[in-house]
Amino acid sequence: MILITGSNSGLGLHFAKLALQEKKKVILHGRNAQKLEKVVTDFRSQGHEVESVCLDLGVPGSAKILFDHCEKNGWKITELINNAGYGAFGRFDEIELNTQTSMMQLNMISLVELCHLFGKKMLANGGGKILNIASIAAFQPGPKMGVYCASKSFVLSFSEALHFEWKDAGVSVSCLCPGPTDTGFVSAANLQDSQLASGKFMKWVPAAPVALKGYQAMQRGTMTVVDGFMNNFLTLLIRILPKKWVVGISAKMMDRIH
Ligand SMILES: NC(=O)c1ccc[n+]([C@@H]2O[C@H](COP(=O)([O-])OP(=O)(O)OC[C@H]3O[C@@H](n4cnc5c(N)ncnc54)[C@H](OP(=O)(O)O)[C@@H]3O)[C@@H](O)[C@H]2O)c1
Repeated sequence: MILITGSNSGLGLHFAKLALQEKKKVILHGRNAQKLEKVVTDFRSQGHEVESVCLDLGVPGSAKILFDHCEKNGWKITELINNAGYGAFGRFDEIELNTQTSMMQLNMISLVELCHLFGKKMLANGGGKILNIASIAAFQPGPKMGVYCASKSFVLSFSEALHFEWKDAGVSVSCLCPGPTDTGFVSAANLQDSQLASGKFMKWVPAAPVALKGYQAMQRGTMTVVDGFMNNFLTLLIRILPKKWVVGISAKMMDRIH
């Protein structure tokens, strides 16, 4: 069975569609019960076999609740996609502290806990696959999205280390770094007013092909995949340009339009 966090919308929903195309049994997850219920109903009406869990993973201890729920129901998770995540746009002191710490809990701590809990079971059961969703935001600091970018740097670094630790033990760990992708991300992060969202600096792409790239990377056990030619080019350029320039350019992208 495949567990996909944040699969009631955006990239997560596309990962679910890809898994269902392959006749896998999917465990859908989301925080918003109504959205989740609608997705479950839609999939079941199409004859797909899905289960669901509604849970806020931005709360300490929630990853263990999710794991225990799967155990209690006898769901054997052989594939895990840690997709749920959000960003928050604005000057650090102007964003509620709770928004930032819940984001860190969701984007990093719950992700680590889910890797530990499900990964250990996969190792014991002889194998499995994990896909963690980072971002091209992982490659540089992002003024006005500082915590989000740092959280994605964490996800990328952690995933690549874990890839090496577990690669000969039968559990593959892959990491997808999407660029700007057309999902609910912009409104969740309050990014509407930014230069980034305007598309002036970077092109926004549809979610389906991005999810496919990540899903394929997971099936092949690829360590890291950055979506899109331009994003790959930028992540290489970032590594050779002086850090001050990189942060300066990043700050320009995060300028408010109004
Ligand atoms: N879109 C982009 O441009 C972009 C670029 C790079 C990386 N990413 C990453 O891609 C992943 C998927 O995001 P998306 O673009 O598909 O955005 P999205 O459409 O907003 O989807 C985010 C998903 O995460 C879930 N989620 C948010 N907060 C949660 C919480 N506290 N507990 C549990 N679930 C929660 C949401 O569920 P509810 O709706 O029920 O809250 C939703 O299913 C994220 O990790 C994001 O950081 C996105």
